[in-house]
Amino acid sequence: MAERNKAAEKAIKPLSGKTAIVTGASSGIGRATALTLALAGAAVVLNARRKDRLVKVASDIQKQGGNALTVVGDAGRFSDIDRLLEQALKWKEGGRKYDIVIANAGRGLAGGTLSSDNSQWEEVYQTNVLGASYLMRAAAEYFIKRKKGDIVAVGSVVGRNISPFSAFYGSSKFAIGAIAEGLRQEVCKCGVRVSLVMPGIVKSEFQKVAGYDEENFYRGIAHMGKLLGPQAIADGICWLLTQPPHVNVSEIIIRPTGQNYP
Ligand SMILES: NC(=O)c1ccc[n+]([C@@H]2O[C@H](COP(=O)([O-])OP(=O)(O)OC[C@H]3O[C@@H](n4cnc5c(N)ncnc54)[C@H](OP(=O)(O)O)[C@@H]3O)[C@@H](O)[C@H]2O)c1
Repeated sequence: MAERNKAAEKAIKPLSGKTAIVTGASSGIGRATALTLALAGAAVVLNARRKDRLVKVASDIQKQGGNALTVVGDAGRFSDIDRLLEQALKWKEGGRKYDIVIANAGRGLAGGTLSSDNSQWEEVYQTNVLGASYLMRAAAEYFIKRKKGDIVAVGSVVGRNISPFSAFYGSSKFAIGAIAEGLRQEVCKCGVRVSLVMPGIVKSEFQKVAGYDEENFYRGIAHMGKLLGPQAIADGICWLLTQPPHVNVSEIIIRPTGQNYP
């Protein structure tokens, strides 16, 4: 009977007993992923810079019966990432361990190399590449010791096909895609999975932060029809995390159906 109950719980909440860390959890894809993983049974550690937004996401997770811990910090600052991982390992409700790391925090930047603002180049690379890589490496070292664990990097379709709308930003996503695949090759023998999720255009705060306007973005995508919401990406992430341990979905691209390019 106990065995049957366990199997039933596993079917409804396939991530129960697991703890997931999600960076960039205050908005968009990260928020949707945190809520979705919590619904699937995971205890979730939420990171972003805006405290009020994180507290609201945690309260939404608690309202749906889940467990959440908020750790405010900058995902591009190494000392903040160390603190995030330390807090996760101290969190009683999370079992004082973590099983899943979603390196999602990031920002866009409108324009190509000629037109983008060089004062923002550093921030783009610090968050999207250096911070994400630092987090992924720290998680990989921990997971190797445990002989299991999941690392998911949120890349982009512009990290596969560069786009004139956002070429400099796209280069950061090429970099994180390469780093994720290289890391996968290093850790796969230890039972650790690394996945790269490449979203197409998702409506979120991303466009505003990147500086997209009618001229440099919306006119060029007007023919693409209905764009994605963050939930489409969250569902993809949850799906790949709930595959059997010997199955590593190492890359997925999720685009709006009408997105022909990139
Ligand atoms: N939307 C798209 O079309 C699209 C397409 C492809 C890939 N992506 C990628 O998807 C990821 C999430 O984007 P989104 O669409 O969900 O955008 P969003 O709504 O703007 O959310 C970005 C999240 O990242 C956090 N963040 C940004 N910089 C941070 C930093 N230095 N430290 C900590 N948190 C930081 C933000 O939180 P705070 O501001 O509170 O810190 C926010 O929670 C990004 O990596 C983005 O490049 C997005």
